[in-house]
Amino acid sequence: MRLNSKVCVEPQESVVRIVYASEACIGAGVYAEMERIRASAVRHNVPVGIHTALLYQSGWFVQWKEGPGHALLRLTDRLAADPRHHSLRIVHSSRGPRLLSGPWSMAIVQTNEEPESMARRVARLRQSMENGVQYSPPAVWRQLSTPLGHPGAAQQTNPDAFQRILVCAAAASPSFEFARWLAARHQQPLVRRRFAGDEGLDVGTDYVDFNDDDRVLRVIAMSRKGLAVPLTRAFVPDYSHIVLLLSGEPERDLPLLDKVAAACAGLASPPVLVGVAQHHATHSRPFALAHHLGLIYLDAQAHPHDCAGVWAAVHPLLARWREAANSGPLSIPDLFAMR
Ligand SMILES: Cc1cc2nc3c(=O)[nH]c(=O)nc-3n(C[C@H](O)[C@H](O)[C@H](O)COP(=O)(O)O)c2cc1C
Repeated sequence: MRLNSKVCVEPQESVVRIVYASEACIGAGVYAEMERIRASAVRHNVPVGIHTALLYQSGWFVQWKEGPGHALLRLTDRLAADPRHHSLRIVHSSRGPRLLSGPWSMAIVQTNEEPESMARRVARLRQSMENGVQYSPPAVWRQLSTPLGHPGAAQQTNPDAFQRILVCAAAASPSFEFARWLAARHQQPLVRRRFAGDEGLDVGTDYVDFNDDDRVLRVIAMSRKGLAVPLTRAFVPDYSHIVLLLSGEPERDLPLLDKVAAACAGLASPPVLVGVAQHHATHSRPFALAHHLGLIYLDAQAHPHDCAGVWAAVHPLLARWREAANSGPLSIPDLFAMR
């Protein structure tokens, strides 16, 4: 299906957004338990307009909820009494636009981390809330679930201020090979996560953090299916670039562009798209489609499975963005002029 409207910004409804963390009391079979919670949640939340994302990590649940205030209050009272968890702590509470585009997302982060590390992050966020400092719901989620673990993080005053780049492939999974290659090259751990939306789909995503000259970059490999999960979409505004590893086959490349455009719909400043293809001619249709949708598309030449080649082609484009970002806001014609 072709998208035939430009990425446009629509006025958003205002909802209450909360994020809480709780200590889980479930034994083995975490995924099956989360599927049971999903079944209840989809049944109860949809009619009252509540959207939610649930994370299980290191013995903790984190839940991000958005919806009308009275419905949220009623639901939170009910689920606080659920014996599958205890000691709920609210770590974010605000009113603003809906950021979760669908009723349900869930994620499991596979890690050997002890519950105490998570407890420290929860306590830090509670403390900042009490000091009157609140981060956005995605930033709170990221600080709890995927904090910057790289040593460079210690030099940052804002723990969430680092550049994030999403990588998706039109065919097979060179995006995951690329993240693995970057992790090996920089001798940094590759972090694995699993996501699901309100239906059966179960998608993987890997990321790596590493030092790039003077700052830390996070490169996230995402499967094509993952682009449809509301939780994934809520993080799209935080990416500076989305790198598209193109196959050269329009029947695969154009649907990827459509999925990315759908994920960028409604954003005031969508990420810059960087198409990577072996042959220059591959870019013409994706470029035209992106341009038609009001998205910036930069082209890079490399074979999508040649990780070193992809990095060599993409890296200068990311650096230019950083120069631009340091020199203040930039218009779309300026960005095109930089190509
Ligand atoms: C961490 C956690 C999150 C939950 N989230 C929701 C939710 O968003 N919506 C919901 O209806 N139930 C949620 N539940 C389940 C409720 O506590 C409760 O079991 C359920 O709503 C009961 O409905 P049912 O008997 O119709 O299944 C959650 C439970 C836990 C442990």
